[in-house]
Amino acid sequence: GHNDDALRTGYHFQPPKHWINDPNGVMYYKGVYHLFYQYNPKGAVWGNIVWAHAVSTNLVDWTMLPPAIYPTAPFDVNGCWSGSATVFPDGTPAIMYTGIDGQNRQVQNIAYPKDLSDPYLREWTKPDYNPVIAPGPGVNATAFRDPTTAWKGPDGLWRLVVGTKDNHLGLAVLYRSRDFKRWEPAPRALHSGDSGMWECPDFYPVAAHGVATGSAGAGESKYVLKVSLDLTRFEYYTVGEYDHATDTYAPDAGQRDGDDGLRYDYGNFYASKTFLDTAKHRRILWGWANESDSTADDVRKGWAGVQAVPRKVWLAPDGKQLMQWPVAEIESLRGSNYVNITNRLVKGGDHFEVTGSSPAQADVEASFQVMDLDKAEPFDPAWKAADAQTVCAARGADAKGGVGPFGLWVLASDDLKEKTAVFFRVFKNGEDGKHVVLMCNDPSTSSQADGLYKPTFAGFVDVDIAQSGGKIPLRTLIDHSVVESFGAHGKTCILSRVYPTKAVGDKAHLYVFNNGESDVKVNHLHAYEMRSANITGSVEQST
Ligand code: FRU
Repeated sequence: GHNDDALRTGYHFQPPKHWINDPNGVMYYKGVYHLFYQYNPKGAVWGNIVWAHAVSTNLVDWTMLPPAIYPTAPFDVNGCWSGSATVFPDGTPAIMYTGIDGQNRQVQNIAYPKDLSDPYLREWTKPDYNPVIAPGPGVNATAFRDPTTAWKGPDGLWRLVVGTKDNHLGLAVLYRSRDFKRWEPAPRALHSGDSGMWECPDFYPVAAHGVATGSAGAGESKYVLKVSLDLTRFEYYTVGEYDHATDTYAPDAGQRDGDDGLRYDYGNFYASKTFLDTAKHRRILWGWANESDSTADDVRKGWAGVQAVPRKVWLAPDGKQLMQWPVAEIESLRGSNYVNITNRLVKGGDHFEVTGSSPAQADVEASFQVMDLDKAEPFDPAWKAADAQTVCAARGADAKGGVGPFGLWVLASDDLKEKTAVFFRVFKNGEDGKHVVLMCNDPSTSSQADGLYKPTFAGFVDVDIAQSGGKIPLRTLIDHSVVESFGAHGKTCILSRVYPTKAVGDKAHLYVFNNGESDVKVNHLHAYEMRSANITGSVEQST
């Protein structure tokens, strides 16, 4: 237990203690970014859920505030669960959240700021007419939650979506309102899929190059629907069309729908939510990363859960997937202590240490170049139907290959007994001769502690590596117990939680490795020491 505090994050959001889960009601209002989040004020396990609150002017440094929304009324007496903020055209916000009522039904409630002149919007009022949406006949009242940000359709009606299920069918059910007070269910769901309960839906328009567009319903051509599957604890999104006439969403042809869809993050990332940053015209994604140690460890540490760094999200130029990148503000934490490597060849089977920075709290940006793509092994046709994780688990970081595995060993001990591998592996498809690129995170040797959940995480990277001359970039944010990676400029992302026992603080090391036959060149690698974010204020409710 002596390393517990050393595993706390320096620049990934986490309160001083206790349990956190989903980001809620994220928004920008009059110069201030708001992050609310599911929080247990009494312990490091899920329960007693309230909306804790933090504010920031730069998405990096945070002022912690007492909970903004907590049980006070019959319509939320058993908990204040996830929900979203909507900023009206006049600039004032409202929050819609799920209350657990006296009969343990999930109902949707509204809350308004008590004092609009308070820049921090500390206090929220819940009108007596709550709940505004109760589970109607035929609706599963214990699976009916997480209202989205509302949007206005061409007919002037407000719309929002609530996540629910009907047996195995996950549903994003649509409600409409003229006055934001009386909500009527639409005759059809916005979308549905055979993947169990849809938690935390998110629905928004997207544009290329990070130019954020308005709220859903602004007449944009492409939309994203994301759902969180409580069965697998993974999130999936599709890019598609929103038909305003029928008020339904359809993924584009070729988009794999449901539990085969794309993921924001192929690691530990759940219950995410975006918001439109009207100050900088971008859409920003927040997501929760749970611990992957045991509940007993969480209780002993006294804290559990962090938020991933806020990520800018935009549509890839080919329109087929989203791109993500840590908001630029994060770079303001880069210290003067950094390493710069250029044009260094790593022969097959070699590794070298990157010395000179503080690798337990770092931002590493690298560009690798495969020198001989012909060494790529054939992509086993049996893997076609498999997901990347299955392929990567079969061929981990220590399994020598033709092209790769190559990449980083992060949070490594000096004897290399502890290390988390973030790497690429390239195969060649026998049918079309195209290369298949995998990005993986292998934490199997991340810690010498027992009882940790250490699955391999992986995603395919949709790039033409031959066309880019064998080059592939990687950025990894390292933060004590967080390894958050962005491959190919943000096409494939993987966050993982690790708990080294030796590779802690100034005992942590960073390496570049190449376990493939082909040599790999590090075109460049910048490793920046990261300062800690400035956290002030208190989560405690004043009495
Ligand atoms: C997702 C979730 C939501 C729910 C909240 C409760 O992690 O289960 O569906 O509103 O957490 O804390």
